[in-house]
Amino acid sequence: MLDQPREYNSIDVKPIAGALGAEIFGADLSKPLNDETFGEIYRAWLDHLVIFFRDQEITPAQYIEFANKFGEIHTHPLMKGLDDYPEVLEILKNEDDTYTFGNSWHTDQIFTDKPAKASMLYAKETPPYGGDTLFANMYLAYDALSDGMEAMIGGLRALNKGDNYKRRKQTGDHRSRAERYAAAKTTMKLKEKPDENRVTEAVHPVVRTHPETGRKSLYISVHTETLEGFNEDEADIIIDQLREHAMKPEFVCRFNWRPGSIALWDNRCTQHYAMGDYQGFRRRMHRLMIKGDTPV
Ligand code: SIN
Repeated sequence: MLDQPREYNSIDVKPIAGALGAEIFGADLSKPLNDETFGEIYRAWLDHLVIFFRDQEITPAQYIEFANKFGEIHTHPLMKGLDDYPEVLEILKNEDDTYTFGNSWHTDQIFTDKPAKASMLYAKETPPYGGDTLFANMYLAYDALSDGMEAMIGGLRALNKGDNYKRRKQTGDHRSRAERYAAAKTTMKLKEKPDENRVTEAVHPVVRTHPETGRKSLYISVHTETLEGFNEDEADIIIDQLREHAMKPEFVCRFNWRPGSIALWDNRCTQHYAMGDYQGFRRRMHRLMIKGDTPV
């Protein structure tokens, strides 16, 4: 967070927690944004890591246009988007679905060579309660490490896997991959033919430096499987310790959705977690991702 609140001319920015997250007021995303307003939104995003807009009524084309201001759209290698707007993924949980998309702490696409820079979620239908999204500040998680731990993990590289069954089990999800995909059928519409060049495993530094802010953050996820140069038992101890540390409540904010809410988060310095506490209710979201760089 900032030591001093920043001055804004065209928007209002209200933090929702001490760790990260701010609501942006005064921006109507259905209208073209001038350079000053967009510049302030981008600055607020870098400062607060995840920003939220309320009561937006935008078409998929306007949603894509806003996302494009942050960079090129990152298309999902496996999931199928809307018929007319394949970039936009619909995340739908029906009343009788048992799968909650994103229901573990993660940062998007860490298992690819160039993980998504940012992700956006736009709420179309929300449950009467529950279904919040939690976000965690990975700059704070890194800064709070001891000097000894920072020195130990400074040069480490981790293998991240798209379907890390091992760690999913540790989070209490004991279903096999087939069982999870069967339960996810409505929520995640899969492409008939997944992209041929898709990558589902990637090695990245455990501590990454943000290309725009220059700050270091802890870069791990539910997808983090093992560490280069360590045996499995050793790697498990270190990864589990870092994962537990990263999710300290003091590093976290929580966002409660209403139809028309939009969240935009920076995957380079945050993790997020979709709550699965609204069984029996429907939740429908539109999701977009922005292309990122190779983490260093
Ligand atoms: C995700 O992008 O991981 C899903 C977040 C959510 O549905 O709240």
